[in-house]
Amino acid sequence: MAQKRLFTGLQPSGKLHIGNYFGALKPTVELFGDHDGLIMIADYHALTSLRRPEQLRANTVDVVGDYLAAGIDPSKAIIFKQSDVQEHTELAWIFDCLVSVPFLMQAHAYKDKVAKGIEANAGLFTYPMLMAADILLYDTDVVPVGEDQRQHVEYAREAAAKFNLAFGPTFKEPAELIQKEIAVVPGTDGKKMSKSYGNTIPLFAPTADITAAIVNIVTDSTGERPENVYAIHKLFKSDADLEPLYAANKNNYKALKEALIADMEVCFGPMRQRRASITEDQIKQVLADGAQKARALASAKMADVRKKIGVSL
Ligand code: ADP
Ligand code: TRP
Repeated sequence: MAQKRLFTGLQPSGKLHIGNYFGALKPTVELFGDHDGLIMIADYHALTSLRRPEQLRANTVDVVGDYLAAGIDPSKAIIFKQSDVQEHTELAWIFDCLVSVPFLMQAHAYKDKVAKGIEANAGLFTYPMLMAADILLYDTDVVPVGEDQRQHVEYAREAAAKFNLAFGPTFKEPAELIQKEIAVVPGTDGKKMSKSYGNTIPLFAPTADITAAIVNIVTDSTGERPENVYAIHKLFKSDADLEPLYAANKNNYKALKEALIADMEVCFGPMRQRRASITEDQIKQVLADGAQKARALASAKMADVRKKIGVSL
């Protein structure tokens, strides 16, 4: 049986933290260990909310470097930028012409913005059809995403079904792969780690910044142990290892934080070294190779689509 094709996309949204590592990078690296597929940097999706060209450029380079350092093998996964393969925006337009406005109005990303009183741009409104194009151009079988993206994969299936009904069988209907078992990584204040809460521990920052983030973990002396430190420490060691350490160092938060810094270093030290050795030129080369491979697949698919809809004469 042929291998199933994976497709995943991520927005280039700035410096990654260890929550992103455990929630996104690590599972993706594991999946691509025994699957082929594509990883797309969704720069045109990012444009729905980002208007700083320098930042978009830097974030794109950073995120690709981070994925490579985390262990993505570019000979197995095609890593490319959405904007490098123009078929994505072209196919998105075709899907826009097949779905209705009320259907798009039910999409969470749009609904949430409106509920918050923020005016959505038209790009955000049609965002799910660009995402459908991303997925469907490559005859994708499986889309690994977080729970928040489930609806978008449903929308992709709907776009495929609408097209197939109107113009004949063309697109495969993809399935989402929701990674449920991945727990939410807590931040330095005990809430979900998120860049929007300013409670992150960076993945690839200089040692001094990582140390500072850990020193700043909020501790309180009311309980048996500093729970916020323990919760993060648990990502690196088992309860069986941690319990004696925390019992021996009751109230010695400094020693416990130092132990956490040392355990994190064992996990991330080699990855940080790899990250530091990856150059911008190497990253650009990976993206150039990826774009070429993705374009070959996407242009073959679009040739068929153009014929079917009647724009190829
Ligand atoms: P942030 O909340 O910092 O803005 P994003 O929304 O950009 O992070 O998330 C990017 C990816 O990282 C998503 O797949 C998301 O599920 C994962 N992720 C983000 N924060 C966490 C966390 N605290 N624990 C587990 N996974 C996370
Ligand atoms: N919308 C996704 C997010 O914000 C990113 C994305 C764009 C994507 N295109 C995709 C994810 C295709 C999976 C498949 O996280």
